[in-house]
Amino acid sequence: MKIALGEKTLKEIREEPATIRNTFQSQATRIKEISTELGQRKPNRVFLVGSGTSYHAGVFGAYVLNALGEILAIPVQASEFEAYVANAVNPHDVVIALSQSGESTDTLKALRVAKKRGALVVGVTNMPGSTIVLESHHSIVTVAGVEESVVATKTFQAQLAVMALLAAELCRELGSLGAERVAEIRHLFEEVATMISENLDAWDKQTKKIAMRLKPSRDVFVLGFGEGFALALEAGLKLKEASLTHSEAFSIAEFKHGPISLVTRGVAVIVIAPSVEEKVEIAERLILELKQKRATVITIIEQGKRLAQGKVDFEISIPRIDALLAPMLQIVPIQLLAYNLALVRSVNPDSPRHLTKVVR
Ligand code: F6R
Repeated sequence: MKIALGEKTLKEIREEPATIRNTFQSQATRIKEISTELGQRKPNRVFLVGSGTSYHAGVFGAYVLNALGEILAIPVQASEFEAYVANAVNPHDVVIALSQSGESTDTLKALRVAKKRGALVVGVTNMPGSTIVLESHHSIVTVAGVEESVVATKTFQAQLAVMALLAAELCRELGSLGAERVAEIRHLFEEVATMISENLDAWDKQTKKIAMRLKPSRDVFVLGFGEGFALALEAGLKLKEASLTHSEAFSIAEFKHGPISLVTRGVAVIVIAPSVEEKVEIAERLILELKQKRATVITIIEQGKRLAQGKVDFEISIPRIDALLAPMLQIVPIQLLAYNLALVRSVNPDSPRHLTKVVR
């Protein structure tokens, strides 16, 4: 039987609207209950730990907690938790351990250290019955269904949804967010799921074209601010592992502090448009500089808006939605670009070389 390259990856990206709906329907009550308990503890800090894609969902989680509340939220790579954070963890802290499989060794280690130091641990996984579920004080199980492709797509989407809802509920418990705003956020998940379904084919078609153009590119940089930075990190990883393309992520402003010197003709730069008005000008100035250096520039931007008066090579447009959940839309064309770039490079994104689904 002939295997179509990337069959599983594409199927799983297509399952994202259902993943959002199912996760929301089955976990919303639980997330509220957990938030109530976390809120009663009046935590000082939240650490979000994970590896790879799950770490990036943690970066997004820290962003939403910071955007909605007044609690210190710090994302930490699970493998560095012991070296950088563990000794400071105390019983007033909450540790959120993110892991699709619920079995990654580094995340489990971090979870165990955090528990030993008295922190309250919340596990977020896609695997009921996994070790992280068993060992966490509370767990939230996303409902993405089994993810067969080695490259995580729909489970990342589910983690983003959980992070946004958990942050909103927790910030309400802690008094920094009104009930009305939380209700508003709850309603957005259905809207996001519908928008993904409606735009998926168009994004697939457009990213196929972009992939053809990027085929010869040696390096791809992905840049974002705030929530866009979390997505840029994930985009950098997706492009590397799915399409074996060298790609790196930076904050838009940080890119000027050195990495820009690598930009020449043939280098591609993806800019996720900032949602904060004051940052737009910084992005625009950078884009003009990138174009002077003859880079191929791709923007991911809200419908009807433009960066640098459209002086870019491709604009991927995203329907207008509350900025807080825009990353749940933006990530889909990014995943499709990684998938389509893999196909034009004859790489199978379902099972990239040297990678396994669970790192033990
Ligand atoms: C990315 C990917 C890996 C995993 C990482 C953590 O597509 O699959 O980077 O995200 O190995 O795995 P989990 O989430 O199972 O702990």
